[in-house]
Amino acid sequence: MSERSDPPGETPPVAHVAHNARVWNYWLGGKDYYDVDQQVGDHITSMFPIIREVARADRTFLGHSVRFLAGEAGIRQYLDIGTGLPTVENTHQVAQAVAPTSRIVYVDNDPTVLAHARALLAGTPEGETDYIDADAHQPQAILDAATDTLDLAEPVAVILLGILNFIDNTDEAEGIVKTLMAAMSSGSYLVLTHPTLELGGAGNVEAMRFWNENATPPITARTGAEIARFFQGLEVLEPGIVSCAQWRPGYVAADEKAVAQFGAVARKP
Ligand SMILES: C[S@@+](CC[C@H](N)C(=O)[O-])C[C@H]1O[C@@H](n2cnc3c(N)ncnc32)[C@H](O)[C@@H]1O
Repeated sequence: MSERSDPPGETPPVAHVAHNARVWNYWLGGKDYYDVDQQVGDHITSMFPIIREVARADRTFLGHSVRFLAGEAGIRQYLDIGTGLPTVENTHQVAQAVAPTSRIVYVDNDPTVLAHARALLAGTPEGETDYIDADAHQPQAILDAATDTLDLAEPVAVILLGILNFIDNTDEAEGIVKTLMAAMSSGSYLVLTHPTLELGGAGNVEAMRFWNENATPPITARTGAEIARFFQGLEVLEPGIVSCAQWRPGYVAADEKAVAQFGAVARKP
């Protein structure tokens, strides 16, 4: 990876096993991955060619949802857990382009994301960004650290894009969402994407099996009904839980091809 984009003076961790953050970056057309990530990424693409479209649709969903939250919904604080490696249109760039005073806390547990975190911290002078090296399995620790930057008495958008699929126990994943949202004030939002075999075509099951045998962390797909459990007690906005490629504030973009990833936005009453 060093010939691609490591910042000067920083020694990246050595990788012998493909890791999600770097493979995701590879699929998105980024530069922050190792050969092993490229090999696994290419093999998955040969089994399930739509995977790059899934990754791009997920990032487009991030843009649509955060622009809506920063604009129409007036949200000024964001807790983005499972941030991924910096790419185009990171959460703070989308939010602060609408409202420069926006405050964003990023959280990831991947050392490569930590090594590149400075790109996530270059926000507007009026706003604030922070990065927490933490694990989603410990939501209370994340909340405790996030309060250095976020005022939980005011609404926060909790962003969980493509991360609950790395919590293999659905009850635990539901508990993580509950802990996070219980700490948030009325008027806060949950923004979520999650892979599903319900929308996946040929090769999806085999591609996930290959991932789980050759890369880390292991991934779990969920049904729409399982994903709906994460929104209990919240008001899911229209168009509901749909393919993230088709989600637009208030309606389904029917001309967009569905991809194997559900997306939804919900408001805490
Ligand atoms: C599929 S990527 C999604 C990145 C970004 N949210 C997006 O939608 O483009 C998942 C990210 O979650 C991170 N991740 C996976 N398990 C995690 C955990 N237990 N705690 C914190 N981050 C985790 C990975 O390191 C990776 O950066």
